Amino acid sequence: MRMRGRRLIPIVLSLVVIVILCISFITNQLRENVPQRDAYLLHLPPIKEAATAATTIADAAALILPSAATSPGALLNLTDFNYLLASDVCRRAERELLGVLIVTSYAGHDSLRAAHRQAIAQSKLAELGLQRVFLLAALPAHERFITQQQLVSEQQRFGDLLQGSFIEDYRNLSYKHVMGLRWAATECQQHAKFIIKLDDDIIYDVFHLRRYLETLEVSETALATSSALLAGFVLDAKPPIRLQANKWYVTRQEYPHALYPSYLSGWLYITNVPTAARLVAEAQRVPIFWIDDTWLTGIVRTRLGIPLKRHNNWFSANSQFLDCCVRDLKLHNYECEYFAGPNGGDAKLLIEFLHNVEKCYFDECLKRPPGKSLQQTCLATVKSPAPEHGIAHIQPLRLS
Ligand SMILES: *[C@@H]1O[C@H](CO)[C@@H](O)[C@H](O)[C@H]1NC(C)=O
Ligand SMILES: *[C@@H]1O[C@H](CO)[C@@H](O)[C@H](O)[C@H]1NC(C)=O
Repeated sequence: MRMRGRRLIPIVLSLVVIVILCISFITNQLRENVPQRDAYLLHLPPIKEAATAATTIADAAALILPSAATSPGALLNLTDFNYLLASDVCRRAERELLGVLIVTSYAGHDSLRAAHRQAIAQSKLAELGLQRVFLLAALPAHERFITQQQLVSEQQRFGDLLQGSFIEDYRNLSYKHVMGLRWAATECQQHAKFIIKLDDDIIYDVFHLRRYLETLEVSETALATSSALLAGFVLDAKPPIRLQANKWYVTRQEYPHALYPSYLSGWLYITNVPTAARLVAEAQRVPIFWIDDTWLTGIVRTRLGIPLKRHNNWFSANSQFLDCCVRDLKLHNYECEYFAGPNGGDAKLLIEFLHNVEKCYFDECLKRPPGKSLQQTCLATVKSPAPEHGIAHIQPLRLS
């Protein structure tokens, strides 16, 4: 009996492999036969009217799903929106993903994206149950350093770009942000539990992030699957900048009130598909405000009554601290006290940080001993700004 059973195993396995090959072949054939592959990805239908009638969360999620493959695209009030480059990282995923990282990136920041890929490759992210896509917009006419053809090549090589047809500008970041959330909530709906939004100039501990998401998944609270998950760096009651000379100057027409509602810093925050779907649907009904994180996780969120989950202790506004973390990880295997923060203009810091922090994920790190906190041991000579608007943390600077 045992012998026969053993001999059967290779036969059964071969059969399974043959069936899988057949299915994937047929699927590919079908895909190829669709005149415009991923046609519905490229032409998302307008969702404005339907959004008004949304009553339940399920409705809200259904609304932003592309219904008719041929309807013209729209994004908020951009009626002629479409994707110049589209990614299918979620659909390509072989198993359910823990999360998808949507990284806001200025199209010209190709070296910063290269640093992200060098810090952790898509294949390695896949091992952690994660995938990453960069959110870009169209190159402005004055862009001198990069061409659309270069972006096309980058896409051919990595397939991780999602480029909207609106023009790159910090005043267009709200479009980009909604584009990313909508894409993740529709394209990754079946595939990813969590959505992590971050900026391309942010250092983040992806291993810590993964651990957090796993804990969230098994925690008693239903937060992970609820339609009210927004976690990150909470900024409370910030006043708009009213100094005309400031890049982040906000007129009273744009925002009349003295204070913003609490919001999450766009540096890095965590949400999920049902929550993103609600935000995107509600964003259709709220006048667009160009400061994207304040608008979506503040103004739009407040209308939905979604509370914010505070993880401010994860973040360091001071890139010097993250630099010191790398030093101490190398020298002493000390755990870093922070898990995210801006790179302070150093594109390579993310690579160093991730390559060194990985060992902590395998429990090979030590807690920092008393008296050896970063505050005490790291000479913070260069002070980085706090994550408020008024500072050039999303400035499209050229890094290569
Ligand atoms: C969309 O709305 C914004 C903000 O209200 C406005 O400035 C812009 O001109 C509008 N764009 C279009 C294409 O209607
Ligand atoms: C934002 O994108 C729109 C659509 O492409 C474009 O018309 C507009 O000029 C952009 N805004 C800025 C400030 O560049």
